[in-house]
Amino acid sequence: TEPLKIALAGLGTVGGGVVKLLDANRELITRRAGRPIEVVAINARDRSRDRGFDLNRFDWVDDTTALATRSDVDVVVELIGGSDGPALTLAKATIASGKAFVTANKAMIAHHGLALAQAAQDAGTALKYEAAVAGGIPVIKGLREGAAANVLSQVYGILNGTCNYILTRMEAEGSDFGDVLADAQALGFAEADPSFDVDGVDAAHKLSILASLAFGTRIDFDGVRLGGIRNVLGGDIAQARALGFCVRLVGLAEADASGLFQRVHPCLVPLGHPLAHVQGAMNAVVAEGNFVGRLFFEGRGAGEGPTASAVVADLIDVARGEVGPAFAMPVASLAAPETADAGAR
Ligand code: HSE
Repeated sequence: TEPLKIALAGLGTVGGGVVKLLDANRELITRRAGRPIEVVAINARDRSRDRGFDLNRFDWVDDTTALATRSDVDVVVELIGGSDGPALTLAKATIASGKAFVTANKAMIAHHGLALAQAAQDAGTALKYEAAVAGGIPVIKGLREGAAANVLSQVYGILNGTCNYILTRMEAEGSDFGDVLADAQALGFAEADPSFDVDGVDAAHKLSILASLAFGTRIDFDGVRLGGIRNVLGGDIAQARALGFCVRLVGLAEADASGLFQRVHPCLVPLGHPLAHVQGAMNAVVAEGNFVGRLFFEGRGAGEGPTASAVVADLIDVARGEVGPAFAMPVASLAAPETADAGAR
């Protein structure tokens, strides 16, 4: 059978993970995908860095956008990042040429996800972004497909591993934000702009995507009320604990007849709540459905293995020919003209 041929744009932590995962689990992936999945072309800034695998077996392409039109490529995997710029140019060019597009880029999906989904639907191709939200946790599939029969009233969770690492270290050590920030950044999970982590922007990107999936509403990143963790003190955490709470950066979205309500800020979480047990750089997502009840997803929200796991799961879907809707509802209804309360279901 014909392999599914991949172009990788970006060969950092996640891109390297994709190559390693495809190598390590080759046989199993081929069986589940119905055909082999092969990386054929790569675009990356630094060709000399040792990534722990042989780089010469790939075709190196200098012009990112050229990946979109290569006749030997079926799918472009975008791991460059950034809401606009080269990532968005590549997304549009790939979809316009009728190829599937797989991305881990939460900022781009938060800002342009519906327009890209519309373009993919028009082109009859796939837009997949499981890796964009909560890394290895299959929360996109979980909400869009697993909970497809439910009315969801709420979706909320711990969506930024860097902040959860900082808060749980502060909790364990009684230290302050500034004391553990550098350690959190050394984990390698931090955004290029670290304020995206600590000021809640990254969590808001992910929350706005989850809210759209959960409620069938337009993605409304600008509608997220934002607060970060810079001003949380060790003493705040100690005092919260004495009252039976811990402090977590929670993103929460609710929808009802009055509209869509989205916010990200440090919250007091009762010590008995499942989110209170989420430690370190882990992520967790909770959704409440009218038939399924409470769903609780927990796992690693960043890093090489988990994020690559989500990217390759999307590639397996593409290999099987799943074009799917990228969001919970047909895009045409999501893209309806905006009115004051059009945020509601
Ligand atoms: N900076 C993000 C985090 C990486 O800390 O969770 C994953 O999106």
